[in-house]
Parts: sequence; C-alpha cells; structure tokens
Amino acid sequence: MANIKTSRVSEMDIDAYANIIHKEMGYTHEEASVYLLEKNLDNMMKIELNDEPIGFINFTHENGNYYINDLDLIEKHRRKGYGSQLVKAFEKMVEELGGKKVWLHVNINNKLAILFYEKNKYGIGKRIDDYYAEGYHAFMVEKILG
Ligand SMILES: CC(C)(COP(=O)(O)OP(=O)(O)OC[C@H]1O[C@@H](n2cnc3c(N)ncnc32)[C@H](O)[C@@H]1OP(=O)(O)O)[C@@H](O)C(=O)NCCC(=O)NCCS
Repeated sequence: MANIKTSRVSEMDIDAYANIIHKEMGYTHEEASVYLLEKNLDNMMKIELNDEPIGFINFTHENGNYYINDLDLIEKHRRKGYGSQLVKAFEKMVEELGGKKVWLHVNINNKLAILFYEKNKYGIGKRIDDYYAEGYHAFMVEKILG
C-alpha cells in the first residue's frame, strides 16, 4: 500500500526539489539547486510517497499571513490527490503556528492550478496585469483559515 507522509525539508531533499523545478520551469538542475539553497529550508514542506519526495511547497510569511511561492508535484504523480494532501498539511502547520491566512499568485493561464485551488476552497481574487512580466498576468488567491 502507498505510504504517504508530509514533513519539513532538509538539505538532502534539495536534489529532488531541484529536479522538479528544473523540469517545470526550464532552469538547469544546477540553477534550480542554487535557487533553492538560497532559500530558507524552514520555509519548505514536502510530501513523500514510499519515502521518495514527490512534491514540495516553499513559502514566506509575515504577520501570520503565509505566502506560497511555489507548489509543485512530480508530473507522473499529479491528479492523484497528493497536491491536496500537501496543501492541507501546510494549512494545518500554518494554523498550529498561529497563522490566519494562506495566499499566493497564480498565472491566469494556469487553468489546472486554478481548478486545484478552487477545489481546495481557495478564493480566486483580483487580477493583476503584468504581475510576472509584461503580458503575463496573475490572479491573487487566498484562503482564510479556521
Ligand atoms: C497544481 C498541482 C500542485 C495540483 O496537484 P495535484 O496533486 O495534481 O492535484 P490533486 O490531485 O490534489 O487535484 C485536486 C483537484 O484539482 C483539480 N485538478 C488537478 N489537476 C487537474 C487536471 N489535470 N485536470 C483537471 N482538474 C485538475 C481537480 O479539481 C482535482 O480534483 P478531482 O481530482 O477530484 O477532480 C500540480 O498539478 C502541479 O504540480 N502542477 C504544476 C505546478 C503548478 O502549476 N503549481 C501551482 C502554481 S501556484
């Protein structure tokens, strides 16, 4: 049976995370590793399937508001509920830390991610034109916890 776990991240996970980012965002593996190692590992969470990391969240927070920079699953493990399990574990952690809100930006063309957040009871908010770069627009997305 599949053994699923969510937990915080250590340096040993960076390679697996860099692999996902490298495939998803077109960075080289080395660029992805450097990008991740500049980030605070305390601000990451992973989901493992049979002890293999298959998805990650990285986040920042300010005044109890937690911002998701990135939420990514290995492609072959998508649409099996693991992303939802990871985001729920993240929300639980935020609540335990006294956080009140999770928010993020999503590319307006990322229809699957928009469906994913709606399914997980996030509200799709205002559109911000040119958020990523000229011609690349985002929606603000948020969920108030509790
Ligand atoms: C977005 C992402 C994190 C979702 O994780 P996931 O594990 O694939 O999603 P889940 O299996 O938990 O799906 C939950 C719901 O999201 C929606 N959804 C997810 N993938 C979908 C797909 N391919 N087609 C249609 N709906 C989809 C559905 O409503 C689904 O519920 P259902 O299966 O009961 O219909 C994952 O697809 C991913 O890593 N995408 C690439 C990176 C990305 O876009 N990240 C978000 C940027 S902010």
